Amino acid sequence: MKILFATSEIAPWMKTGGLGDVAAALPPVLRAAGIDVRVLVPYYPALRRAFPEDETPVVASLGNFGAHFAGSALRAAVAPDGTPLLLLDSLIYFDRPGNPYLGPEGHDWLDNHLRFGLLSRVAAWLGSADNHLPWQPNVVHCNDWQTGLAPAYLKLLPGSHARALITVHNLAFQGLFGHHALREIGLPESAWTMHGVEFHGHLSFLKGGLHYADAITTVSPTYAAEIQTDEEGMGLAGLLRARAAQLSGIINGIDTVAWDPARDRHLSFGYDVRHLDAKRRNKAQLQEEMGLAVRDDLPLLGVVSRLTHQKGLDLIAELQQQIADLPAQLVVLGSGERGLEETFRELAVARPGQFAAFVGFDEGLAHRIEAGADIFLMPSRFEPCGLNQMYSLRYGTPPVVRATGGLADTVIDGVNGFVFREPTAAALLAALRRAVAAWHDPKTWRRLQADGMNRDLGWTNPASQYAALYDKLISRPAGH
Ligand code: ADP
Ligand code: GLC
Repeated sequence: MKILFATSEIAPWMKTGGLGDVAAALPPVLRAAGIDVRVLVPYYPALRRAFPEDETPVVASLGNFGAHFAGSALRAAVAPDGTPLLLLDSLIYFDRPGNPYLGPEGHDWLDNHLRFGLLSRVAAWLGSADNHLPWQPNVVHCNDWQTGLAPAYLKLLPGSHARALITVHNLAFQGLFGHHALREIGLPESAWTMHGVEFHGHLSFLKGGLHYADAITTVSPTYAAEIQTDEEGMGLAGLLRARAAQLSGIINGIDTVAWDPARDRHLSFGYDVRHLDAKRRNKAQLQEEMGLAVRDDLPLLGVVSRLTHQKGLDLIAELQQQIADLPAQLVVLGSGERGLEETFRELAVARPGQFAAFVGFDEGLAHRIEAGADIFLMPSRFEPCGLNQMYSLRYGTPPVVRATGGLADTVIDGVNGFVFREPTAAALLAALRRAVAAWHDPKTWRRLQADGMNRDLGWTNPASQYAALYDKLISRPAGH
């Protein structure tokens, strides 16, 4: 079984959210199970630094594929955990600092269709008969819109043979471009139909993936069901319902080495379920680091999140008075929409010692919040899987979550966390009050903590589901 895992993010070098974590953690677990997985990812500046040119041989020089793409090359490297990487080297497209999708002003790069069109095209090339390298995948496993067109290239261009799987990490990001993009990326005009890559007058990378892939997965069973409803299908529910037989949900795992409270290199005080006292020391240290009053008689609420509408953090902002009155402390780490960034900065200024916020991306602080907070907040409007609630379960920081997507599949009300249904501040507050009441009762709290900490949240189980799916795809005749 040879699998190409195609991704636009891979932690720790390039990560804007959970996809980067998944791309770093799933392939090595599959490899440990005996599956030959290689990861295709753009040669971003951080990867260029980690795997310099003189140590990464060029394994293929790629032309422009008869489209408007710039020429590029594939380089081979091996990640520290042993996973083989195929680095897509294009100075023009990928040697840009910062966020992979946005320029310095916070707007999408204007050539994203070419950048991720090329990534998709190269993934398809690797899975096609044109690939004369010694290694050819049987399955091209794509992730989100950025590699979503690989299944379209595989199906629409002659001579291809690998099976295509697409995993939807977030249906909200679809990769939409004007009609001009179709010709520029070398897809035939015949694909411009409702039963192709066209979506309400746009070229949709994600729809291309969903339409042409041999199988579709998403990152939790509940989200797999939700996206087939008109309410949550983001315009793609009809297509997803039509493909229901090829669609399944496989819950993400977490990297239990990187996220292990006993061995976490970002923490000063390691702890486990039998030594929860050290968790208190992490709390005090976090309070100090964030300029909060060092008190252990108040619950500390933690948030680590992209600051977007999806995550429902405006509900927390709405409750600032009630949270202060609980009373509780609040620490927020996040970046994203300028308005929300401003809101949390202002909250921290308005209530010094009680609320704190760090606007930015900080891996170490994310770990210290998971460990130092008492209660983790994740009031998402929708959540395909969510990793942070799983980190918080593992760190003995019971989460308060909305019953949606992967949050509904991982958090059990009153057992390892607190769950509310309506996406309203009132519903969040009611759950939060229950959480704080439980926190004040040490016996109840330890039971909640222990349940989360003892859960098997690793990748072994999910990886075996992916392996079974690869197997099924390979053994089945082509076409769908
Ligand atoms: P999503 O992918 O929708 O952003 P997930 O919960 O799946 O949500 O994954 C988010 C990942 O990104 C987690 O690993 C989380 O710790 C990390 N993360 C999000 N925002 C930040 C931040 N500001 N600083 C550090 N890590 C962050
Ligand atoms: C997305 C989703 C998140 C999921 C992550 C990894 O960014 O928003 O819920 O955990 O991808 O699959």
